[in-house]
Amino acid sequence: MSSILKVTNLSKSYSSATGSLTVLDDVSFDLAKGETFSIVGPSGSGKTTLLGLCAGLDRASSGSVEVCGIKLDALDEDDRARVRNQHIGFIFQNFQLLPTLTALENVMVPLELRGEKGIAAKSIELLERVGLGSRLHHYPTQLSGGEQQRVALARAFSNDPEILFADEPTGNLDEETGIKVEELLFQINKEQGTTLVLVTHNMELARKTGRILRLKGGKVIELTESALAAQA
Ligand SMILES: Nc1ncnc2c1ncn2[C@@H]1O[C@H](COP(=O)(O)OP(=O)(O)O)[C@@H](O)[C@H]1O
Ligand SMILES: [Mg+2]
Repeated sequence: MSSILKVTNLSKSYSSATGSLTVLDDVSFDLAKGETFSIVGPSGSGKTTLLGLCAGLDRASSGSVEVCGIKLDALDEDDRARVRNQHIGFIFQNFQLLPTLTALENVMVPLELRGEKGIAAKSIELLERVGLGSRLHHYPTQLSGGEQQRVALARAFSNDPEILFADEPTGNLDEETGIKVEELLFQINKEQGTTLVLVTHNMELARKTGRILRLKGGKVIELTESALAAQA
């Protein structure tokens, strides 16, 4: 198996006035290239924390994360940002678009950081792909939630990531838009072999991914193959 994400005994604690709070407790799993994977569990169970650690947005208290063959544990913030820009796509629960930039400019940012050429054309193509060809010059406040989420999706794919992390990508969307976003995610997984890691409350969506990891109180309580994906 060619592993793209290897999480080993990962734990995260926060210290507070009342002592230490463990929000992730000894989590381990291994993902093969091209897999689709979902993380489910009740609110507060550590899903967002786990996703952030896997993508190098934050540092673990103990344990290790290896993504795209790179161990994140010893890297400083700048080096982790570089790894993200080169290898990783991330869709935040609340979009996190830059408010002073248009849709097009938001999608162009990761490409500019890489110093690529032809970035406007590539960004327009991505926005057209998510159905926003007529919203290129809109600012985030001028877009609906679903449209902002699709800009975030286009941005996450702009650097051709090997692995894409998405935190409740359909959580804030109406059913129809949610289904469109889902379809795009799976399409890009198929076409480009992008590994998908989704956090979701939607079991219907989770069952479409190959494996489901269930968290509770920061611990893995279940890691199962999805029956639906196995049939596909
Ligand atoms: N920066 C932080 N400081 C202290 N506690 C935090 C911090 N971030 C998250 N937590 C706590 O960690 C737990 C897990 O949070 P989170 O990963 O966001 O859960 P989920 O995404 O499953 O809802 C929650 O109890 C939350 O309050
Ligand atoms: Mg969350």
